Amino acid sequence: TERSLVLVKPDGVRRGLTGEVLHRIEGKGYELVALDRRTVGRDILAEHYAEHEGKPFYEPLVEFMSSGPVVAVVIEGERCIEGFRALAGATDPTAALPGTIRGDLGRDWGLKVQQNLVHGSDSPESASREIAIWFPHLA
Ligand code: GTP
Ligand code: MG
Repeated sequence: TERSLVLVKPDGVRRGLTGEVLHRIEGKGYELVALDRRTVGRDILAEHYAEHEGKPFYEPLVEFMSSGPVVAVVIEGERCIEGFRALAGATDPTAALPGTIRGDLGRDWGLKVQQNLVHGSDSPESASREIAIWFPHLA
């Protein structure tokens, strides 16, 4: 059965939306296999966002992601990678459909990086890579 790495990003934690995000994941029927709130530095984020290095939003993204605590979660269930991406909605919270986490709870704040509340792995390869970064004991 499949696993995915989910992050409640600093904007989500700051706004008190962690419980709401976990509620939607559990409501969908996925299991919460591991859960940890932590503030991470550039080292972890550079690994996590290696694919975006060099892009214009990379520096603001790393800055934002290290600006406060995140809640890292490993979820489990058949096709949970695709399923969580559907729950999360489109990357741009303005365009994300109502009914999704980003569409219901996110908006554009006029900042250099899209603050969009959550992260979810985008493929089985990313999921195992990211789980190894955030929860090495589960890898
Ligand atoms: P994650 O689940 O966070 O990985 O989001 P995603 O897979 O929908 O987006 P992607 O991996 O492409 O980008 C990672 C993060 O970088 C996004 O969640 C945004 O916070 C930010 N980002 C991505 N694309 C852009 C962009 O074009 N402009 C800006 N300002 N930020 C972006
Ligand atoms: Mg991504």
